[in-house]
Amino acid sequence: MTRPIRFLLDGEVRDLTGVDPTLTVLNLLRYDLRRIGTKEGCAEGDCGACTVVLGELEDGRVRFRAVNACILFAPMLDGRALFTVESLKKAPGDQAGALHPIQQAMVANHASQCGFCTPGFVMSLYAHRREGAATDSGTLKDALAGNLCRCTGYGPILAAGQAMGPDPEARLADALAVELAAIRPAESLEIEHRGRRFLAPRTTAEFAAAVEANPDATILAGGTDVGLWVTKQHRELPTIISLNEVAELRRIEDLGDAIRIGAGVRYADATALLGDLHPEFAGLLRRLGGLQVRNLGTVCGNIANGSPIGDMPPALIAAGASLVLRKGEATRALPLEAYFLAYGKQDRAPGEFVEAVVVPKIPAGRIFKVFKLSKRFDQDISALCAGISIGLDAGKVADARIAFGGMAATPRRAAACEAALTGQPWTEATVRAAAEALAQDFQPIDDMRASAGYRLQAAQNLLLKAWLESQAAAPTRVLDAEAVAHG
Ligand code: FAD
Ligand code: FES
Ligand code: FES
Repeated sequence: MTRPIRFLLDGEVRDLTGVDPTLTVLNLLRYDLRRIGTKEGCAEGDCGACTVVLGELEDGRVRFRAVNACILFAPMLDGRALFTVESLKKAPGDQAGALHPIQQAMVANHASQCGFCTPGFVMSLYAHRREGAATDSGTLKDALAGNLCRCTGYGPILAAGQAMGPDPEARLADALAVELAAIRPAESLEIEHRGRRFLAPRTTAEFAAAVEANPDATILAGGTDVGLWVTKQHRELPTIISLNEVAELRRIEDLGDAIRIGAGVRYADATALLGDLHPEFAGLLRRLGGLQVRNLGTVCGNIANGSPIGDMPPALIAAGASLVLRKGEATRALPLEAYFLAYGKQDRAPGEFVEAVVVPKIPAGRIFKVFKLSKRFDQDISALCAGISIGLDAGKVADARIAFGGMAATPRRAAACEAALTGQPWTEATVRAAAEALAQDFQPIDDMRASAGYRLQAAQNLLLKAWLESQAAAPTRVLDAEAVAHG
């Protein structure tokens, strides 16, 4: 049944009808609602100028998430509260005009020059503050890594973040939870507009049935890839089936010896559990996109898209992850590496979808390393990603799982390298021989991110680095961009 998209904007219920399902929230705000405080910089999720905040009801509490309005489709507002820079007030109940404490802190710290990026920074800080997150400089840097400013330098902006004080609106969060529960319509959202459809089922069974019945439809998870098909490639998507309203798919389950990450689980929600599995995952996730991307993007979307340079597959393949694929009522399990058949081709039948990824727990004592090489530390697509997992028995390599992204047309295991390691003593000589074998496994390509020669040599060096790190009592890796910059 077609019904309006219903969301809250500054406490008012808004019903949207007659909109294209791929209308972005940025265009809705600027062209339809005339809220022009939210800026367009890149229209591809990179710069953060369009940052707005979503309030989402999760397990009875409101989560405040900074997201990029430029790649968020309007139907994804359904059942949520939207905050833009115009929503900010000096104090609850104030009229527009007076500066909010965050805006005041930006002014006081000279954190705005041309001002184009400023609303985005303010909104990222707003979400951070409403979530009650820490304001030490490391935490703030992570929260702001998805916002770019070319004028002021980041020092004054970080100073503003540290000066912003606690959230005066904290006591309003309970009332917002009640309002959000009250506006949630009983029926799931189905939009039909000029031949384009958007379906948002609420149970896994309904979602599976919709995907089976519409094998050509675009499955929408966080939209951090799909959004760009619309804003950059101007693709028309006749039918979209969103998995964002399926609560069951947004669960992470502890299975005892593994964790199961549902298709709707976003990076931001997977970080803690994956980090418990191994700190290497936390280090990787911290560098995957910026927080706005991690607040929407899903782990399973990163796998399902089949990209050869997705960050998660090499680490997950090394960890021995498997996929749960589902078509209608039928499910099947597949080792993750078997999913990637060729460039742009995955082992997924029409009408089938990725229901979950299952990641085994990494036994204590196993060597597990994840490396991402990119030109920028934060918010950059990798030139190369490596997942290295080695089991030792009496000083010898009992088994090895070595996987790379960015080295071939798909994320892949390095069979010759693994064979050169297995059964051998875990020594520098073994590792150097195994590194040589990588040349049999991969003939990488040259592109703007790295040359073929760089990729191969870097992959070989990363294997050696894993060995070196395994010899050191203390970690030898610098995981902080500032520490890198200052040597
Ligand atoms: P969507 O965009 O919703 O979907 C992606 C694709 O997968 C689509 O083809 C969709 O139909 C399909 N799909 C999604 N879920 C399923 C499912 N359950 N079953 C079947 N098909 C499905 N990626 C990186 O790896 N590293 C980065 O550092 C990184 N940085 C980024 C920075 C920016 C600014 C942006 C915009 C993107 C970045 N990405 C990065 C890419 C993107 O964020 C990831 O690939 C993300 O995981 C995609 O997940 P999603 O939920 O947003 O997928
Ligand atoms: Fe750059 Fe949206 S306009 S992230
Ligand atoms: Fe100009 Fe940030 S103040 S880009």
